[in-house]
Amino acid sequence: MKVTSICCLGAGYVGGPTMAMIAAKCPHLQVTVADMNGHRIDAWNSDTLPVYEPGLDAVVASARGRNLHFTTDIRSAIAAADLVFVSVGTPTKAYGIGAGRAADLRYVESAARLIAEVSHGHKIIVEKSTIPVKTASAIKTILAANSSSKATFEVLSNPEFLAEGTAVDDLENPDRILIGGEITPAGNAAVEALVAIYAHWVPRERILTTNLWSSELSKLVANAFLAQRISSINSISALCEATGADVDEVARAIGMDSRVGPKFLKASIGFGGSCFQKDLLNLVYLCESFHLPHVAEYWRQVVHLNDWQKSRFVEKIVRSLFNTVNGKRIAILGFAFKKDTNDTRESPAIHVCRDLLREHAQLAIYDPRVDPETIRRDLANAGIPEEILATNLEISTDPYAAATGAHALATLTEWDEFRTLDLPRIHDLMLKPAFVFDGRAVLPADALIALGFVPFTIGKGQ
Ligand code: UDX
Ligand code: UDX
Repeated sequence: MKVTSICCLGAGYVGGPTMAMIAAKCPHLQVTVADMNGHRIDAWNSDTLPVYEPGLDAVVASARGRNLHFTTDIRSAIAAADLVFVSVGTPTKAYGIGAGRAADLRYVESAARLIAEVSHGHKIIVEKSTIPVKTASAIKTILAANSSSKATFEVLSNPEFLAEGTAVDDLENPDRILIGGEITPAGNAAVEALVAIYAHWVPRERILTTNLWSSELSKLVANAFLAQRISSINSISALCEATGADVDEVARAIGMDSRVGPKFLKASIGFGGSCFQKDLLNLVYLCESFHLPHVAEYWRQVVHLNDWQKSRFVEKIVRSLFNTVNGKRIAILGFAFKKDTNDTRESPAIHVCRDLLREHAQLAIYDPRVDPETIRRDLANAGIPEEILATNLEISTDPYAAATGAHALATLTEWDEFRTLDLPRIHDLMLKPAFVFDGRAVLPADALIALGFVPFTIGKGQ
């Protein structure tokens, strides 16, 4: 089957950049990204993209208007496409059965119903959203029950492994592309059609094909393993603080064992982002559904440890500031869940700031990319009343403004610009004693001590 036109439902952090890369690499393909959110589509069509990713502007500019289009006309986009990526959100279910663990598949389901309604002829449907194992069967059932007799479908799984902040590099040069399909002649043909698209820029040996369920499960397991490494090193960070060992030295020592490897061993205030916690909880729910409580409990601990690490950091701040932060100004540097993104979903900063506000602290938050409205909304959604936000929250325009008159400063995101802060100036601007809580190890501990700060860095014996 020859694919000449593709569309993607969902113009988010995954759908937008992924389709931009496909369009840039495959000029012969028409690529349309459709989303029901008009503001998002307007932003994709403007000079200020809704997603901040280094290098993304150039990729979009190279293809937009040529073979890359952004639209809210979802129906026409589906009707014109030979291949449809589904990249709508799959949040953790907040209600009813499986609340707090299971994935809420209502957007995926409504996408399938819409595809069935407007399709004629043959289409390949590709799950891009991370979904529980066996969702492909549900999609197939919905398509079969709702489509005209002339429409036929093949459903593939093609999870996306890009990380935010490095999305363009990850898309351009992926470790692997994973494609799962049914092991039938029609299934194999659909898999080959998708392989052919990626093969325009990804070496064939890096394109893995598997059965549908292996592909769906691999995405959850990849994220679970990555998150597990962070919880493992964070658990050791607490032991390092207690013993005087240095977690970075321990990480280096174990990471040089080629069987362990050096990546994803950076101790922190915890992992954030839209995927790790959601996918771990999904995995836990899946294990419970298949009556594997021991396996479920094993993975649940990765999430528990992450929550504990965030709380531990807040406790450290409160204890250090003589057991009260009531009325004290605390400068917060960084709110995004990692550097080089404006995304704050599940950012540990939300948890830390929420708990400090509950202790009646005065926060002055600075982040170079996150817009002030997002910070306010995240804290309101975390349960902080509007009147507290009005009186106890200031959004600062630079780190020095945040530090002025502050008792303490905490780094919550590892933005590169924090590594070159004018520390003597910060020290002068702060009240004394000046406390620094370095949740991302971006500030030089020796310099902090020499300048007279009282520093705390995750995993460093004090
Ligand atoms: C999404 C999934 O949440 C994730 O599981 C998967 O791994 C990749 O795709 P992301 O792109 O980061 O992640 O989500 P988000 O930025 O929220 O984008 C989803 C988009 O879909 C939104 O723009 C939303 O408006 C759109 N959408 C959602 C629709 O167009 N139609 C719907 O019915 C639902
Ligand atoms: C992750 C996966 O890496 C990606 O493959 C998948 O498609 C989506 O989920 P993302 O959440 O965008 O990507 O970013 P990632 O770089 O994995 O970071 C996740 C969180 O872990 C961040 O909060 C980061 O600060 C934290 N982290 C990462 C650590 O605390 N220590 C580390 O060593 C690495």
